[in-house]
Amino acid sequence: MRIDRDAADAAWPALLAMKRLVRASDGSAAPNVAFVRESGAWTVVADGPAFDTATLYASERPDFAPPSGERASSVVRVDPLSGATSIDRSGVLGADDEAVLAAVRLYAPLVFGSGRAVRSGGSFVIAHVAQSLDARIACVNGHSQWISNDANLRHAHRLRALHDAVVVGGRTVERDDPRLTVRLVDGDDPARVILSGSASVLRGEASYRALDGGVVVCREDAETGAAHGAEVLSVPSPATGLLTPRSVLDALRRQRLATVFVEGGGMTLSAFLEHGAIDVLHVHVAPIVLGSGVASFTLPEIACVQDARRFDVAHFDLDGEMLFECRPVCAE
Ligand SMILES: NC(=O)c1ccc[n+]([C@@H]2O[C@H](COP(=O)([O-])OP(=O)(O)OC[C@H]3O[C@@H](n4cnc5c(N)ncnc54)[C@H](OP(=O)(O)O)[C@@H]3O)[C@@H](O)[C@H]2O)c1
Repeated sequence: MRIDRDAADAAWPALLAMKRLVRASDGSAAPNVAFVRESGAWTVVADGPAFDTATLYASERPDFAPPSGERASSVVRVDPLSGATSIDRSGVLGADDEAVLAAVRLYAPLVFGSGRAVRSGGSFVIAHVAQSLDARIACVNGHSQWISNDANLRHAHRLRALHDAVVVGGRTVERDDPRLTVRLVDGDDPARVILSGSASVLRGEASYRALDGGVVVCREDAETGAAHGAEVLSVPSPATGLLTPRSVLDALRRQRLATVFVEGGGMTLSAFLEHGAIDVLHVHVAPIVLGSGVASFTLPEIACVQDARRFDVAHFDLDGEMLFECRPVCAE
């Protein structure tokens, strides 16, 4: 599916409204939401009279069927358990509607997944990585700006806007000094969370932009030094010295940060993947080969290909570069 920039921008205010609606619902199921085009602009409504005129629905209720009206309708259906998504096209849509449908297909599962996690008292985790064809996310010296294209940068900002917190590893902060704010699209900034088990990100002379007003998650026994405006969250550490993603997520949930976007780098992404703590993984592949550098994922060695982690995959075209939406397949 092609993610058209204009269509994604047109759908974006409605997707943000959908996030507010779904997160506000305190029932056992998310509301069905309908995307309605009014005077050329897309807006979103939950269970209401505007349903009669909707062209596009998003629902996590398996039995949801749009009312039969004069207008053609499509439904993006999100399975409440697996998060798998399908699209029913009950009628012929215009080219603009099809483009908006693709954007809704990409982002609605994240909104529903987040709502589901909040209602059940759990966490929802999306991870995203921009990598070369040879699965590198940065050069050996840490340079990574930018591996992917502008469409992916906007996508990353959309992911920040849809979630409560953005998590990066300490080395990403030291190397890139990212702001971790939402600037390329509308939306609220997420809480900035820096994972730094030994708190090394706080011990140097340098202060980084993400620290001021951010949260540093470290081990209980870490020497923290100056906080540089950050809140320090200490988490009990296992004998390995590395924090488990579950303990990090639990600590964040206690701060009312239940939906989390893990933005990198490789060590941080790998920890979340290894511990089965990722609900949806977005892998953006740029048509370049670095030949050396920081790997996207480094996991414990396996002896045969059959032991590899498997994913259900959907593909999106972001301005000529490929985004893989991956959902972990649980081992039997
Ligand atoms: N292309 C992309 O999509 C993308 C995105 C983000 C970053 N990057 C690049 O990625 C590179 C950095 O990646 P990286 O793999 O070297 O490092 P990283 O994941 O950014 O940071 C590693 C640090 O995070 C902390 N950490 C990570 N997992 C931990 C765990 N389970 N428990 C406790 N602490 C943990 C540790 O801090 P302490 O040492 O303090 O314990 C560790 O040294 C940078 O060059 C950046 O530019 C690329």
